[in-house]
Amino acid sequence: MPDTSRPAKGPLVGLPLLEDLPELDGRCVLVRVDFNVPLGPDPRGGGGTVVTDDFRIRSALPTLSWLQDHGAKVTACTHLGRPKGVVDPHFDVAPVRARLAELAPGVELLENLRFDPGEEDDDPGFVDRLVSGFDAYVNDAFGASHRSHGSIVGPPARLPSAAGRLLAKEVEVLGGLLVAPARPFVTLVGGSKVGDKLGVLRVLLDLVDHMAVGGGMAFTFLAAQGHAVGASLLDAGRIDSCARLLEQAGDRIILPTDIVALEPGGTVGRHTAGTGEVRMIGTDVPRGWRGVDIGPETAGAFADVVAGAGTVFWNGPMGVFEDERFAAGTRTVARAVAESRAFTVVGGGDSVAALDELDLASQVGYVSTGGGASLELLEHGDLPGLEALRHAPNAPRAGA
Ligand code: 3PG
Ligand code: MG
Repeated sequence: MPDTSRPAKGPLVGLPLLEDLPELDGRCVLVRVDFNVPLGPDPRGGGGTVVTDDFRIRSALPTLSWLQDHGAKVTACTHLGRPKGVVDPHFDVAPVRARLAELAPGVELLENLRFDPGEEDDDPGFVDRLVSGFDAYVNDAFGASHRSHGSIVGPPARLPSAAGRLLAKEVEVLGGLLVAPARPFVTLVGGSKVGDKLGVLRVLLDLVDHMAVGGGMAFTFLAAQGHAVGASLLDAGRIDSCARLLEQAGDRIILPTDIVALEPGGTVGRHTAGTGEVRMIGTDVPRGWRGVDIGPETAGAFADVVAGAGTVFWNGPMGVFEDERFAAGTRTVARAVAESRAFTVVGGGDSVAALDELDLASQVGYVSTGGGASLELLEHGDLPGLEALRHAPNAPRAGA
């Protein structure tokens, strides 16, 4: 019988898995995790700082417990925020360590990797110090595996290494979207940074049947169609690229047909309503006004296309949903994704936060722990962290 435990194609090929590690009983294992989690004031009072969303920590537990069950002494390491190579108490991992101790007793957590400039510089001396004293390395940090940082790409050249359960699952699910998605394949994209997403949009356009574009990035597309965008978010240098995508896409790109706009001088609130008059308008934004959410007609159209889908991939919010007044578009889309009978995949902190807020995350087929990483995997079909693991001394050889 052929070995069905190993995939024949896709980015999982050649990755060493936990089963490919040498005997672990009594050995020390370093696990790179992505515990770059949101922190906030302790709701129980006392003035302390706590982890406000432990999804990324819980997602690593299967790997941590597998290693402990096999007798390993497990040490985890993560980055937290962007402290830029200096020790900064704002980015102390102590609250993460406290939550980890509750969820995975016995697992140690090293200091924030990004307190040392060697992490982002992938400095060999830094990596040597990091792996010193360890017998094996596991990468379960999917959300950071698009970064060629020391703790991601360095250890597999030095130690027997493996992809953890979370990393392998993420790669299987997201890589699967590229191979044989059930049709129609619908992607919903939003968020503010069109520049960061153009590459993946180009790749996705070759794969999908419909691509619905909302959020701040929609205005660069609307501008490419000649609409006035007022004071909305606009990436003027990307208008031509968006015009080319629209040409290539024919009617597969679906843009907003109505917009929620905020008057000049109005403010956007955070977890509360800001100030200023709000109006529903068409696709031309008056001077000084800012488009801040998709309108109800657009949200309904996006929900309809999701309802008819076989596969849905959603990344990025449809509006500035932190302000209650501009949350409706993202909410309608979140509900449609949750209710859809399609295989649904959601990636990116903001989309996941919207699902969580509505208590809908459990109704989605797969919630990715990676935002940037999931887009990079879709765009390039691979990640630096995966490539490094394939070169580990214990990696399965091609064809084996
Ligand atoms: C994330 O939260 O997106 C990952 O942890 C990567 O963080 P970074 O964008 O700061 O590298
Ligand atoms: Mg990010």
